[in-house]
Amino acid sequence: MTTQSSSPSRWRFDTLALHGGDDPAYHPLGAHLPPIFPTTTYTFPDVETARATFAGERPGYVYARRGHPNADLMARKIALLEAFDFLQDGMPEDNAAHGLVFASGMAAITAAILARAQKADVILAPRVIYGTTYAFFTHVLPQWGLRVVWVDQGDLDAWERAFREHVRVTWAYIETPANPTLDITDIAGVVEIAHRYGAWVIADNTFATPYCQRPLALGVDVVVHSTTKYLSGHGQALGGAVISRDRDYITGPLLRMLLVLGGVMAPFEAWMTTMGMKTFALRMARHCENARTVAEYLAQHPKIARVYYPGLPDFPGHEIAKRQMHCFGGMVSFELKGGYDAGVRLMNSLRLPALGVSLGKTDSIIEHPASMTHAKIPPEERRAMGISDGLVRFSVGLEAAEDILADLDQALARI
Ligand SMILES: Cc1ncc(COP(=O)(O)O)c(C=O)c1O
Repeated sequence: MTTQSSSPSRWRFDTLALHGGDDPAYHPLGAHLPPIFPTTTYTFPDVETARATFAGERPGYVYARRGHPNADLMARKIALLEAFDFLQDGMPEDNAAHGLVFASGMAAITAAILARAQKADVILAPRVIYGTTYAFFTHVLPQWGLRVVWVDQGDLDAWERAFREHVRVTWAYIETPANPTLDITDIAGVVEIAHRYGAWVIADNTFATPYCQRPLALGVDVVVHSTTKYLSGHGQALGGAVISRDRDYITGPLLRMLLVLGGVMAPFEAWMTTMGMKTFALRMARHCENARTVAEYLAQHPKIARVYYPGLPDFPGHEIAKRQMHCFGGMVSFELKGGYDAGVRLMNSLRLPALGVSLGKTDSIIEHPASMTHAKIPPEERRAMGISDGLVRFSVGLEAAEDILADLDQALARI
């Protein structure tokens, strides 16, 4: 990580997304855009410089697994966006937040948790979370003597009870809105309870993004991202990020995890993500607008049993979402009255959204969890994760809303 700073602290969010984290050092020879540094090793003019660099007495790079300019620029940009509220309050950039980027969202999430967990520790988490994070909690952590206790995330009394009943809770894990049913967790509520018991709160902010929600300002200790989604924005680059206000956590145990587990972000992917982030604010505004239009259309459609979108007034988490989010994001899930078969027919009838996993890209993309991502999970377990047979997850893209609605209309008429 570099510690230099050059971007003004009081920029508006859109300007910060474009220019935040930039530094003249990233623009050699007057290059307008930062170059890509496809080098694994950094060399030194003499042994004295090498010694001082290894000792951390001067800034500089050593080996790309340990850090490189493209990763630093990307990490600084995301950290500044997550710290936007502190910057607006006049906090200096270098104190506001710190971050590291990883090769994928899962590399970031696993490193973030392991960096601060020991054998016999307990992690409190909801079941409605991204499927591979759920797999990490159910299959991998127990192998190393860590225990995950499931909590109903919408119920603050359940969080309080879980903390009271379990000693050695290191983490409270939240994902809000959650994948795929957009369940909302009261962030400040969980933070208040967790901090009373001496635990840290970690929030996956992939769905909301810092454009719509900034958990650090609500007291969360660590924010994780799959940058593969909205931050990168074009579906070209896998990536992840871990952001925290605690510099010691980032530069100590988390950096050690990056070094030893080796889930490092490649220079080209970091560069593409940084370039994608230049249009992040613009894209998010359109994603949110289109998602609201789609949610409102689906809410009045006779073949739809239920729409999951935090911006709809009758959505269970709406009041909390309104309090803690600046906007409601680009994801809409819905349940078809016709169940599994209707889900399959709808997928096969849509022409505009691509049928596939992942989300948060310029193009609309849709999936039917029961027949696709969650097909291997037994139906009872699937239901405990909030996934019914007729559930559809729609990542609403940047196309003209009229075209998205027309396509939904023709496909719904066929099921
Ligand atoms: C909410 C959420 N968190 C984490 C991940 C994992 O990210 P990645 O695929 O970049 O490893 C995903 C992937 O879909 C996700 O949706």
